Amino acid sequence: MAILNVGSINVDTFYRVPRIPQPGETLAATSHDSSLGGKGLNQSFAIARAGGTVLHAGAVNGQDGDIIATMTNAGIDCRHVARLDDCPTGTALVLVASDGENSIVLSHGANHALKEADIARAVSEMHAGDWLLLQNETNANQSAVALAKAAGMKIALAAAPFVASDILPLIGEVDLLLVNEIEFEQLVSSGAEASLSKDAMALITRGSDGAEMRRRNETIAIPAFRVEPVDTTGAGDTFTGFFLAGIDQKIALPEAMTRASAAAALQVSKHGASVAIPTSAEVDIFLAGHG
Ligand code: ATP
Ligand code: RIB
Repeated sequence: MAILNVGSINVDTFYRVPRIPQPGETLAATSHDSSLGGKGLNQSFAIARAGGTVLHAGAVNGQDGDIIATMTNAGIDCRHVARLDDCPTGTALVLVASDGENSIVLSHGANHALKEADIARAVSEMHAGDWLLLQNETNANQSAVALAKAAGMKIALAAAPFVASDILPLIGEVDLLLVNEIEFEQLVSSGAEASLSKDAMALITRGSDGAEMRRRNETIAIPAFRVEPVDTTGAGDTFTGFFLAGIDQKIALPEAMTRASAAAALQVSKHGASVAIPTSAEVDIFLAGHG
């Protein structure tokens, strides 16, 4: 099967700082650099590195063909990434503290200029039983869900960043919901959790405390692997991509979760978002060394 990811593409600029500054405070960075990110792009990278088949639908500025080339070289089908002349590529300013925690500011740019007709063209290449994967960094998610449902696709939603008014209209259509523990609390307090279908899977990640999958009365919980995190930016995206690729490849749920957890542990051990996502072979080696 295959995964269509209608998702964001950002250029991330990282500033490494001793700690996240307080309001009104100025801090000197110890280093800074730029690399590709965006929850959508990171998740497509993770799916491809996990060995999954992924088509990415999104948009970048017309001058940024090198971004599309990098994604394509990573094994992502980018025929449905639009090049827009009137919009900048999305950007993110990422502050990374010395304990690995981060703070992110987004500028949506082209990520909020997706056209329903382009998404429809991408959906028309998919088959019943394929997955549509969404995050909350692009426009047109409701249209994407309607088109995918009509094509018999399953819906996976990484409900981040969590904005109740964006997530509520989608939640009843979701087969797989992926949230971190803060987003899960936001989901519950907004009342949106009640709209989740009884057959839907909810995958809740809890940073260094691991992750759990809930479906009906079943819960599968796994611990995180013990590593020294240097930068957790994109940890959730790595988990999402490996987990979704795993279940799309019909890997049993506990094994798909363990592989996703190993991939995320490797990813937080390096700086950057997409550039830190390991390959499936690296995950195999890590797991062989961790029992
Ligand atoms: P982000 O927004 O930074 O991409 P997130 O908040 O969506 O991440 P988390 O719940 O923090 O997601 O982390 C996702 C998964 O990554 C965890 O379930 C765990 O498997 C792994 N992970 C995160 N932090 C650590 C850590 N310090 N050590 C080991 N594994 C970690
Ligand atoms: O989840 C991490 C991502 O969030 C970063 O790559 C940044 O671009 C923001 O979208």
